[in-house]
Amino acid sequence: MADIDLHSICANLIQIAKLGGKIVVSAKPDSSTISNKKNTADIVTQTDSTVEKFIFDHLTTQYPTFAFIGEETYKAGVPLTPQPTFIVDPIDGTSNFVHSFPAVCISIGLVIDKQPAVGVVYNPFRDELWYAIKGNGAFTQQGFNAEVRRLPITTPLPLHGLGPACIGIEWGSDREGPNFELNLKVFTALARTAATGGKFVNSLRCTGSAAITICRVAAGQQDAFWECGSWAWDVAAAWCVLAEAGGVMVDGHPGVWNPPVDNRRYLAVRPAMEGQREFVEEFWEVIGEDRSTYGPPE
Ligand code: IPD
Repeated sequence: MADIDLHSICANLIQIAKLGGKIVVSAKPDSSTISNKKNTADIVTQTDSTVEKFIFDHLTTQYPTFAFIGEETYKAGVPLTPQPTFIVDPIDGTSNFVHSFPAVCISIGLVIDKQPAVGVVYNPFRDELWYAIKGNGAFTQQGFNAEVRRLPITTPLPLHGLGPACIGIEWGSDREGPNFELNLKVFTALARTAATGGKFVNSLRCTGSAAITICRVAAGQQDAFWECGSWAWDVAAAWCVLAEAGGVMVDGHPGVWNPPVDNRRYLAVRPAMEGQREFVEEFWEVIGEDRSTYGPPE
C-alpha cells in the first residue's frame, strides 16, 4: 500500500465532495422524493441516491482497484476487507436535509487495512470542510479561500470527567426495545443531578449528523459523541479527522479500546492533554451491564 498517494486522494475527495455538495444544495426534497427505510425516523431521498451515484462513478473510474461501500447501495453481509475501500455517506444528516436544517454533509472515507486513512467531511450549506490524512494531522476550512486551521481549533485542555462535558447523542430510529431502553437509561443518567444519581453533564446535543458531530469533537467544540446503531459510512471519514486531531474512538459498549470501523457502536472523545481514559471509563460505567443489539458483523 506504500505506493498509494494519500495526499492526492484527499485533494481529489475534497473536490468530489464539493461537487456533490452542489447537487445537495440545489435539490428540493419533497414528499414525492422522500421515502422511509426502516421507519419514519430512518429516511432516504432521491438526492441521497443521486449523490452516491455521482461519487461512485468518479471514484470507481479513478480508482478501479479500490472497493466501494456506500450507504444507499450497501448489501447486507458484504464484508469490509483489508483492501483499500471508499466508505461513503452521500448525505449524512438526511433528516436535517429534508427539514432544511443546515447540519448536512457528504462524508467520504478511505479505509485501508480496515483503518481510516483519509477522511473528508463537507457541509455544503455552510461551506464547511474537515479533512485528514493518516499521519498528517486534521484540518478545517470554512468558506472559499478561508484560512485552513489545524484541529483541534482550541487548546486541548484536560478533560475533567462527564460533569462539565458537552456530549453529542442521537435518538436513532429504534423507539422501543433494548436499544431505545439503553438510550433512555444513558441519556437520563447523564442529564440527572448528582443528588438523583446522575452525572449532571453540562449539555447533551443532538444534531442529526454523526459525521459532523465527530468532526466537532475533533475540533474540541464538543467533548464527546456516543451512539449505538450508526454505520461505518456515518463515522469512517470523521474518525480519521478525530484520530488525527488527537481524539479517540472507542467502543460504545464498555471494554474495547480499538474497535473496528464497522463496529456500529461508537464513543468519540475529544483531544485532551489528560483525562481521555478516565472520561471513557466513567462513560462506560454509566452504561453498566446493559447492551444494545448492535455490533460488528460476526
Ligand atoms: C444518520 C445520522 C444520524 C445518526 C444515524 C445516522 P443518515 O445518518 O448520522 O445523526 O443518528 O445513526 O444513520 O441517515 O442521515 O445518513
